[in-house]
Amino acid sequence: MRWVRTAGRSLLAFAVVASACVVSGSDEHEVSGTGPLTLATAGDLTGYLGSVLEGWNRTHPAERVTLVELPDSADETRAQMVTDLRRGESGRFDVLNIDVNWTSEFAGAGWIRPLPRGRFPLEAFLEPVVDTATYDGRLFAVPYVTNAGLLLYRKDILAKEGVPPPRTWADLERLAKTIAPKYGLDGYAGQFFAYEGLTVNVAEAVYSAGGTILGDEGDRVTVNSAAAREGVGFLARGIREGWIPRAALTYKEEESKQAFQDGRLLFMRNWPYAYASASAAGSPVAGKVGAVRLPGPHGPGVSVLGGSNLAVNAHGRHPDSAARLIAYLTSEQVQRQVLTQGALPPVRAALYDDPGLVARFPYLPALRASVITAAPRPKSPRYEQVSLVVQAVVRDAMAGYAAPSASVRRLARELDRVSSRPSAQ
Ligand code: GLC
Repeated sequence: MRWVRTAGRSLLAFAVVASACVVSGSDEHEVSGTGPLTLATAGDLTGYLGSVLEGWNRTHPAERVTLVELPDSADETRAQMVTDLRRGESGRFDVLNIDVNWTSEFAGAGWIRPLPRGRFPLEAFLEPVVDTATYDGRLFAVPYVTNAGLLLYRKDILAKEGVPPPRTWADLERLAKTIAPKYGLDGYAGQFFAYEGLTVNVAEAVYSAGGTILGDEGDRVTVNSAAAREGVGFLARGIREGWIPRAALTYKEEESKQAFQDGRLLFMRNWPYAYASASAAGSPVAGKVGAVRLPGPHGPGVSVLGGSNLAVNAHGRHPDSAARLIAYLTSEQVQRQVLTQGALPPVRAALYDDPGLVARFPYLPALRASVITAAPRPKSPRYEQVSLVVQAVVRDAMAGYAAPSASVRRLARELDRVSSRPSAQ
């Protein structure tokens, strides 16, 4: 699978050279409705996009798409996209695969163009994902993949111990403390490096305890609550007591997945792609992995809604081709490939009921339940700053530099400051 990724990286160099010609204005006809495109995306972790795009390129020789693969980390990808879009010229990217929580910011800034609803089969999609693609009542992107956190566990070990997978934090903590060491494993990890993934893990802990971070409109800070103290306390306690290894403070998606896949962890919070990878032939834990909904203090917890939407650069070349490419990528056929080859959760609802797919991907029912009940990240026109504050403050609590209650108070203070600051736009 690696080769596709490498091919994607080398295409990047080509894309940069090609777009330089467009930016210099040497190619007048490049601004017509149809023609070649670039598709920018965060790292294709399962290396499946090359073959999906080959399917398009074979049948659309005049509208060939070049994959521009940006870094794996959501934050770095956002930074590269924003730098390009801010120039207000056609730039390097025609179609952008954007994280669900960037839609409002990109639309509000005028970087992506509104799309005609009638052109895309929105009624066939899972409902919560369509919301993430709209801004100010208009459609600004089309849902492409969705995502929800799951708890992966070592089913071989829990079976030997005769215990079911945890439903509550108390179950998780007990098993992580008592069983994991018996097998020489660490207890639990999520994505605890200071980046967007930490914001996701913190929001899940706070939401699962019944709390919130910002009010619905994003202009009210609601985090100073017992629930938030409970959520942050759960994460900080794990590190302090050792059932979350300290190394997890350096984990993003890939590092945590690797620790679990190498057989070093009993429990892991991750996105479903990690289940597919840990279960694939050649993985040391193949056949030994189970997945359930995330636990919470009193039963199943709440996942944050992840995933990405496809958007069209407001100044991009060939908007008609861009819309057609998006229709292709959200077609039933490609959405099936998204799951079977990319191990990513599709946005089309019917695929979650397909008996053949459920047999192959047994986590689909748990995943559907997690997506349907998933909560969006705090909504704010200054989302990036909100996320940076959450990461910095909770990171200190997890590293043991501050008590959870003091951290939650600081979080409230710093978020207040972010909300009252005039926008950087
Ligand atoms: C996944 C999710 C995305 C989230 C990111 C955080 O890619 O789909 O929504 O922002 O992880 O690391």
